[in-house]
Amino acid sequence: MAIKLTVNNQPQELDVDPEMPLLWALRDHLKLTGTKFGCGMALCGACTVHIDGQPTRSCVTPISATAGKSVTTIEGLSGPAGKAIQDAWVGLDVPQCGYCQSGQIMSASALLTANSKPTDADIDAAMSGNICRCATYVRIRAAIHKAAEALPAKA
Ligand code: FES
Ligand code: FES
Repeated sequence: MAIKLTVNNQPQELDVDPEMPLLWALRDHLKLTGTKFGCGMALCGACTVHIDGQPTRSCVTPISATAGKSVTTIEGLSGPAGKAIQDAWVGLDVPQCGYCQSGQIMSASALLTANSKPTDADIDAAMSGNICRCATYVRIRAAIHKAAEALPAKA
């Protein structure tokens, strides 16, 4: 039976194996290739998307677990935190090779949505599961602080 979900605010119906990882459904069936495959074992964060706003590793999430849910990928990232993160990433020229960066941005935007003024410790805790082989960590942390400056503090 087809699985119904929303991806980037568009209703989708996918007639695929229910055990198919969400990552493959996004990349191979919906042609949303901004989300990357790194390890396939929930270890690197390259495949991070939001499911109902929560950062989630799509490589180990069966598509059946997303039925009725709202998935956001890097292609659909919006909202104040998403915009602030993307502007800061460009402003500070964060990426090197870029492979890990959509996952980094999805984790960072989820952090800022939950906590608009994160400390260094908050950032390290939220981002520790996103690995960057180019070691852009210093720029990532700076960009999250820069994005936070552009957001109003939550009451
Ligand atoms: S590809 Fe999903 S965590 Fe590495
Ligand atoms: S920018 Fe190359 S892996 Fe992170």
